[in-house]
Amino acid sequence: MTETTISSVLKEDRMFPPPEAFQSNAHIKSMAQYDKLWNLAKDQPEVFWGEQAKDLLDWHTPFSKVMEWNDPFVKWFSDGELNASYNCLDRHLETRGNKPAIIWEGEPGDSRIISYRELYEEVCRFANGLKKLGVQKGDVATIYMPMIPELTIAVLACARLGVTHSVIFGGFSAEAIADRNNDASAKIVITADGGYRRGKVIPLKDQVDASIEHSPTVEHVLVCRRTRQDITMDPIRDHWLHELTSDVSSDCPPEFVNSEHPLFILYTSGSTGKPKGIKHTTGGYLLGATLSSRFIFDLKEDDIYWCTADVGWITGHSYIVYGPLANGTTSVMYEGAPNHPDFGRFWSIVERYDVSIFYTAPTAIRAFIKAGDELPKKHDLSSLRLLGTVGEPINPEAWMWYHEVIGQKRCPIVDTWWQTETGSIMIAPLPGVTPTLPGSATKPFFGVVPEIVDKKGQPVPDGHGGYLVLSQPWPSMLRTIHGDDDRFKETYWSQVPGKYFTGDGARQDENGYYWILGRIDDVLNVSGHRLSTMEIESALVSHPAVAEAAVVGMPHDLKGEGIFCFVTLEGAGSKLSSDELKSQLTSHVASHIGAIAKPDEIRFTDALPKTRSGKIMRRLLRDIAAGRETSGDTTTLEDHGVLDSLRQ
Ligand code: PRX
Repeated sequence: MTETTISSVLKEDRMFPPPEAFQSNAHIKSMAQYDKLWNLAKDQPEVFWGEQAKDLLDWHTPFSKVMEWNDPFVKWFSDGELNASYNCLDRHLETRGNKPAIIWEGEPGDSRIISYRELYEEVCRFANGLKKLGVQKGDVATIYMPMIPELTIAVLACARLGVTHSVIFGGFSAEAIADRNNDASAKIVITADGGYRRGKVIPLKDQVDASIEHSPTVEHVLVCRRTRQDITMDPIRDHWLHELTSDVSSDCPPEFVNSEHPLFILYTSGSTGKPKGIKHTTGGYLLGATLSSRFIFDLKEDDIYWCTADVGWITGHSYIVYGPLANGTTSVMYEGAPNHPDFGRFWSIVERYDVSIFYTAPTAIRAFIKAGDELPKKHDLSSLRLLGTVGEPINPEAWMWYHEVIGQKRCPIVDTWWQTETGSIMIAPLPGVTPTLPGSATKPFFGVVPEIVDKKGQPVPDGHGGYLVLSQPWPSMLRTIHGDDDRFKETYWSQVPGKYFTGDGARQDENGYYWILGRIDDVLNVSGHRLSTMEIESALVSHPAVAEAAVVGMPHDLKGEGIFCFVTLEGAGSKLSSDELKSQLTSHVASHIGAIAKPDEIRFTDALPKTRSGKIMRRLLRDIAAGRETSGDTTTLEDHGVLDSLRQ
């Protein structure tokens, strides 16, 4: 932390109270009801969470302890036992057996509707298949799949057996898969031959094959057939899912696990190069996902709910799989790109399946705005009753477009702030209660006690920007970084002792509403996805032509933040033209991390601006990348000539 407070200039006074019709049917109907529950969760967290855990989840062995806090490690419901897949499936069979659990559409237009009973049976068969391979409680399974129902099935089958899943987004490279396999000591990789994206086949199995040579812990690769292109199958290591499960039973008793049993690891970028394996456990996580889904999306029995995220991110874990299914909701899942065959695809899905709740990212909304109003206007969107956003601050104009063109001024918008680490939504409106302001995530959810502080951990005056911290533990919080308790303590608990450090800047306005100002560390938010500048820098430096690299974010119309790389070259680089080298470096970064990390801009330079002690002055690079005048103090800069040459 280098600056005391963050200046914030946005002023917004368009306020939208919840529509009356929505409010009168909502689970939570009044600010008084919200205040009462919020205060209970703050003042008597064990009473609040103990009651919610009993109400919302089915326990095989009831818990007697609610929370144990051993700064900064926490346990929730630590003597209780439950199973997450039981809570998402078995307990619905009697009342919702024939209700659709998943409505799925593939990118080419194929579709499936899977009832709770069918999903239960498929999950059991998948779990029995895993058992045949000797995969059991305590093992870790990597899942690298397209957005097909088998992805959700694989996740729940792992949960059923007490196998910890580590889902890797299908856009990551072979190298990224191997790193994650090794960090988690994965025993099995679950994948597919391929998936469809923008009309093309993404060769997932080929990426897995390339990763396996460098993944010594992996014993098996389980392959789901999706695209049917030719792939190589190793006769010993590789298994087709349909063959493995051809003769198994469609019942599989759940493995009841301790509440603190690790349900999953999910890798996310931090401000140093190595991705962090965020560890979430069973009872607390499931409670957070279930409670927040129920109240923030106001889930009702007949809702058709659609979260457009990928299960490879935390949003998909909590709000495609666990939250909606634990609530017995019908959840829509779509395999492909929003613009295939054109930007009307989402609206066509909303119309055809009568989607009532729609949750997406600001980067997608900006792309829709650019594509024009004609596409949504061609479709009947009258089934929608609630909209949501997640992933980055939403600019007020995008919010207004979402409200007017998609919500047709009828649907409340829940702007939900949270993180991979928080497991579930932390700050968001309650749709039947909270008047919304475009661009504000508004108020904290139950059990969430945010504070905005300066670099010394002291509260900043109202209206000033500062660092957002959470001062009370909550059930779905991360338990640690897999295999690295020290990094966990250092990253989240060292800045302000006893409080969780989010890495985000924020300000609170006179209504008590929170405005998230974005990351304050070296983490970029590109299209709502977190990327570490260090990780991209080390990928660049691993190219023989590169001597040094500094990566910063720059404003980007669609992605929110784009990737701007300043690169100094070794002698060898000069033999290539700068365009050739740029394209080489772009594919180099994609092959090390994945296509999502491709640079938007590469600028070659003779030198980087450094302090006398040799530290790169990123603040100056950010100004240059944004095309701004450099602001602030430059007295520590070693060579002022560098700035002039960088601007050219
Ligand atoms: O900077 C915040 C931003 O996304 C970060 C978390 O990224 P990730 O762990 O990948 O999870 C994304 C989905 C939960 C946060 O630190 N962020 C997320 N939601 C919002 C947001 N920033 C502003 N407003 C939001 N609604």
